Amino acid sequence: MGKQLFASLPCASCHDVTNPFPGGVICPNLGNIAAEAERIIQLPAYHGSATDAASYIRESILNPNAYLVPGEAYRAADGSSVMPKNFGKLLSPKQLDDLVAYLLTLK
Ligand code: HEC
Repeated sequence: MGKQLFASLPCASCHDVTNPFPGGVICPNLGNIAAEAERIIQLPAYHGSATDAASYIRESILNPNAYLVPGEAYRAADGSSVMPKNFGKLLSPKQLDDLVAYLLTLK
């Protein structure tokens, strides 16, 4: 369900889920986001509130500025994330759960 949802939302126009990070000219590739999430929350540079891959992915969707993936192209001129900040308003709690569950399968 999350897979179809991801494809039908603007997510898919920015993110490639078929290739791993590092990579992604416009946006970070999400092909290995479950593993990346585990790695990122251990980094000294990570100051968000996630404690596992699922909460990191959820935080990335609801509050893209909580942690910025390094990359010039991933930042707007004001230094904030290029990712839209309003998915928390657009998505229902169920849709958010489905998206997180789907992205957790991408290792
Ligand atoms: C306009 C382009 C754009 C759209 C649309 C977009 N994103 Fe992003 N996303 C980004 C950029 C750029 C980043 C990297 C900057 C950052 O860390 O916020 C990012 C980061 C992420 C991350 C963290 C990646 C990592 O390696 O840590 C996740 C997860 C994510 N997006 C999921 C989504 C989902 C799910 C959707 C749809 C609901 C979505 N994105 C829609 C541009 C976009």
